Amino acid sequence: MHPRIRTIEEYHAAYQQSVEDPDGFWAAVAEPFTWRRKWDTVRSGEFSPAGNSKWFDGARLNITENCLDRHLAQRGNKLALIFEPNDPKVRHLRLTYRELHQQVCQFANVLRNNGVQKGDRVIIYLPMIPQLAVAVLACARVGAVHSVVFAGFSATAIADRTNDADARFVLTADGLNRGAKQIPVKSVVDEALESCPGVRRVIVVEHLGWPVTMREGRDVWYHDEVKDVALTCPAEEMAAEDPLFILYTSGSTGKPKGVVHSQAGYMVWADYTFRNVFQVEENDVYWCTADIGWVTGHSYLLYGPLLAGATSLQFEGVPTFPSPGRFWEVIDKHHVTIFYTAPTAIRSLMATPIDNVLSYSLTSLRVLGSVGEPINEEAWHWYHQHVGKGRCPIVDTWWQTETGGIMISALAGITPSVPARAGLPLPGVQPVLLNQDGTEIEGNDQEGYLAIKASWPGVIRTTWGDHERARQTYFQPYPGYYFTGDGARRDENGLYRIIGRVDDVINVSGHRFGTAEIENAINQSDYVVESAVVGYPHDVKGQGIYAYVICQNGLPTSDLEIQRAEASIIEAVVAEIGKIAKPDKIQLVSGLPKTRSGKIMRRILRKVAEGETSNLGDVTTLLDPLVVEEIVAGRK
Ligand code: PRX
Repeated sequence: MHPRIRTIEEYHAAYQQSVEDPDGFWAAVAEPFTWRRKWDTVRSGEFSPAGNSKWFDGARLNITENCLDRHLAQRGNKLALIFEPNDPKVRHLRLTYRELHQQVCQFANVLRNNGVQKGDRVIIYLPMIPQLAVAVLACARVGAVHSVVFAGFSATAIADRTNDADARFVLTADGLNRGAKQIPVKSVVDEALESCPGVRRVIVVEHLGWPVTMREGRDVWYHDEVKDVALTCPAEEMAAEDPLFILYTSGSTGKPKGVVHSQAGYMVWADYTFRNVFQVEENDVYWCTADIGWVTGHSYLLYGPLLAGATSLQFEGVPTFPSPGRFWEVIDKHHVTIFYTAPTAIRSLMATPIDNVLSYSLTSLRVLGSVGEPINEEAWHWYHQHVGKGRCPIVDTWWQTETGGIMISALAGITPSVPARAGLPLPGVQPVLLNQDGTEIEGNDQEGYLAIKASWPGVIRTTWGDHERARQTYFQPYPGYYFTGDGARRDENGLYRIIGRVDDVINVSGHRFGTAEIENAINQSDYVVESAVVGYPHDVKGQGIYAYVICQNGLPTSDLEIQRAEASIIEAVVAEIGKIAKPDKIQLVSGLPKTRSGKIMRRILRKVAEGETSNLGDVTTLLDPLVVEEIVAGRK
């Protein structure tokens, strides 16, 4: 069986071995998986200059045999997935490992019958329903590269991703539920595909029973396709370094990039981190509230739990529907023992009357997790006291889409769990703090750029179709290191505290957006000449989006004109990216603070957005210092 760390001494021993003898360490961790062929080398490749880490090269496998087939003998009747629908009045669904295996095989056969082959990219734009989990695994079963697009992204965002991945297949549904709202998903896909001539086949899952337009020759219903397929499906044999999935994420420049993860390294990393961080036991009921459209859903709703043979709960809805007690109701209903959510959800629930949580027992809980953004001390304590009743360790897990799995976190109940600290690195992770010039900052009680010194199995392999971009973003800024884009502090006890992004990325409710990406969207509005976007502290979202916008015909003077301009700006963002990227504040301005060379001084814009207008620093190098006065006066 897979060994697991159970004491602090074992943690230190594992950590030391992972640094001194990484090959031996990871070979032992990888041993118990189902391999069609074992690896030739455990680790190969380099961070610098090529940025081409490889793990378990030469091995052959299929990750779904590890998620499903190998559990059938001992856990065939164990629950793999519990599905809790949006509406609590609708009955939940439970799938055993045997049932999930069968559903994945059937979906995989449907994919094959529709022409999906090994290596093909498949875009998945499905709501949080069981078929989303099944579809992802079905792609992996046939060796197709899945790229899940969160079902809140706009048609333009789907089209961009579909074209970038050169995908010929799209999986979607008629519609989705999100709290009290219902959204026609298929029509968003239809709009997107008008600019995706490469797509040959769209497979549509019926969820709401809504009428949709099916395009002859391109669109088929899943329920028609699945009627006559076999209940088993041989798994495609994959090479360790074949891509498993692409997940698009925002960076500080340009369009979102397709982060690529591979088969073997990702599998070993998702499984190892899941079991150790959450200290999972056989009878746990584990619930990660993230959508499968984000990396957290990939690694810790789907792959990690299934690899470990755990029971994973998938929730279709939102924390506040039909009431702000929904999370806690679901925990009591399904006797959830491990609960993993985002600080933004905790903060939004904290803001509602305390009875919403106090009226549930929550006695089943034993471990709590947090992910996506720094958790502030107030939220940490509320979570600890009212949800964990003071007895559940909290794991504050720091990681990124690019890292594949958790990098810095407490191991529940084993390594220190301190408010507002992610904690110690996992075995295999060697974090360092760097100066601006790239030298390592030694010792504790220090702050710097967070970078990782050696490769780990889950490291990003490339950005789809553009390896140079991955190299330049992650491996070139500080040669020899993976650069995270985050700033961090190592406290007096060596625990890491993540401060936040040091690049032009904003983290809104745990979701990443590039300022340039939002500016590009805003600039699509006919009203707009130029814009600059910065983040500012937001009570619930962590960071909010503050947009400074110069309009075509100068500053609008009437309220009506202002409203029109703002509506047009919001419309442009919703169309380009989706509702999740809507600016929280829009300030129409007549100019932006620029240096003589034309560079926008974001430092000033950030300070104004944060309300720190008394201390703007040196503005004498600005082309037009008067602009700053206007901006300060008009601050939202
Ligand atoms: O800034 C860090 C923040 O989220 C970024 C990664 O975002 P994404 O790739 O979307 O992945 C989110 C889920 C893993 C990081 O660069 N972040 C993530 N987790 C934490 C965090 N910041 C502080 N504490 C965390 N636990």
